[in-house]
Amino acid sequence: MAQGAFWQEGVVYQIYPRSFMDSNGDGVGDLQGIISKLDYLKELGVDIVWLSPVYKSPNDDNGYDISDYEAIMDEFGTMEDWEKLLHGLHDRGIKLIMDLVVNHSSDEHAWFQKARKSKHNPYRDYYIWRPGKPDGSEPNNWLSFFGGSAWQYDEATDEFYLHLFTKKQPDLNWENPKLRQEVYEMMKFWLDKGIDGFRMDVINCISKVDDLPSAGEERYAWGGDFFLCGPRLSQYLREMNEQVLSKYNAMSVGEMPGVTPEQAAVFTNPDNRQVNMVFQFETMDIDSGEGGKWNFKPWRLSDLKAVTSKWQYALDGKGWNSLYLNNHDQPRMVSRFGNDTVYRKESAKLLATFLHTLQGTPYIYQGEEIGMTNVQFGSIDDYKDVETLNFYREAVHERGVSPERAMASIYAKGRDNARTPIQWDDSENGGFTAGEPWIAVNPNYREINVEESLRDPDSIFHYYKTLIALRKRHPIMIYGSYDIVAEEHEQIYAYTRSLGEQKWLVVLNFSGKEAQFVLPEALKSFSGGGNELIIANYGDVPAASVEELRLRPYEARVYKLV
Ligand code: NOJ
Repeated sequence: MAQGAFWQEGVVYQIYPRSFMDSNGDGVGDLQGIISKLDYLKELGVDIVWLSPVYKSPNDDNGYDISDYEAIMDEFGTMEDWEKLLHGLHDRGIKLIMDLVVNHSSDEHAWFQKARKSKHNPYRDYYIWRPGKPDGSEPNNWLSFFGGSAWQYDEATDEFYLHLFTKKQPDLNWENPKLRQEVYEMMKFWLDKGIDGFRMDVINCISKVDDLPSAGEERYAWGGDFFLCGPRLSQYLREMNEQVLSKYNAMSVGEMPGVTPEQAAVFTNPDNRQVNMVFQFETMDIDSGEGGKWNFKPWRLSDLKAVTSKWQYALDGKGWNSLYLNNHDQPRMVSRFGNDTVYRKESAKLLATFLHTLQGTPYIYQGEEIGMTNVQFGSIDDYKDVETLNFYREAVHERGVSPERAMASIYAKGRDNARTPIQWDDSENGGFTAGEPWIAVNPNYREINVEESLRDPDSIFHYYKTLIALRKRHPIMIYGSYDIVAEEHEQIYAYTRSLGEQKWLVVLNFSGKEAQFVLPEALKSFSGGGNELIIANYGDVPAASVEELRLRPYEARVYKLV
């Protein structure tokens, strides 16, 4: 595995523009808002910004439904603003990757508008159309990701179109070479403007199994087997790489629900020329019960260890991992995997230590660096996310689930947890907007905000800054091989990283209680009794032999064994 690529050594920061910073008081974050905060990103030390979609969109799914891939959403600003943002980032040595949402477009995209006109329109085949069954029902029984059938009947031509997400997000037909060329041209449009790569939205859904078979006999069922990592995915990724990415040395990270480590090792192996890394979902699934994310259950440290180890071992030397614990689709990590009350700061730093000391590229989601938490709005009317609203309607109004139970799921797993505005200071609306925010600010903005984090030298923000800076000095943090230690421990997650002659030991107490760690015999010769503390999330770490450590609640320490 070659080393030294910017996408391996950099730390990525994800911006969800709608919720980042509003510059004009309309309550919606925008490009000028981001521009006004570039020095903040520079101060944090991140190397790459991933911008969630800023393209023209009717916003059925907050920009993941694109009606013009080469225009900027009015609410966010103009192409000129976007150019300023790109240059502002580049001037600060920060790269920019854009979201590539090409499994589907918006139904308001000109292609779809033409496609739906007649069966013979040249754009018809840009989408996936099928006649209904003789009894008038859908062509197959697939469920959409957001609930309900994945097919929508369109009266004009008496056929159904496929939409794996909302009915305003019709799936594009990747079997059509013309469609693929349009996508590649559009990618070049942005790369020619100077961007540095793409995050590829649900890119492993683009190749569907021929004939689109039903998933069993039930009326509706999950059809993932027929469209996740489908038969021609590698072929399309390779084509995209050859025709576009390789010509620009562009970075690529593919979002891939359901991907296994074995598959990821193929997609991310540089010899296969597909993508640099993928976002896997196995970690995100450790607190999902049967039937998916809303049926949440407590996660177990043993599962976190098992999944993380599986990915670390599977890709070592073969491919490359992306490392994330939250994004715009997931709850806030400190509320989910840490403790967002008594040990918020300690546990946020512990989780940061975890992410930055695994092999791969860390992704920070906006607000994570100040320890932003989940939110609990009193009423479903305060929620904006289409997935959340669909879930509530379907659970409460169709399945008879109690509103309290549905709200408990939303509090734990809803995507709006991550979409409340960034809390910049303790002024009204957390300083995010001078107007009425599109979604309410988390009421804890008076205690948790950027201004406070910048002021406090011991803050989560400053800890992230240190971690990011350390990574630049120590290749072992990026490239070192991972090996789990004391695997059975119920409170502590410990592992080593090894590069050449060097070995580091990471010890993380994932519990709210004190914990005892004993170094396994096999590692003792390495430590030779000596060690050097690289970083810790408590200020007053007593000098101790790593052979036996007592860790306080959520304490994290990284040692170099000497
Ligand atoms: C994944 C995106 O991250 C999510 O926000 C979106 O709803 C779906 N893909 C559909 O584009």
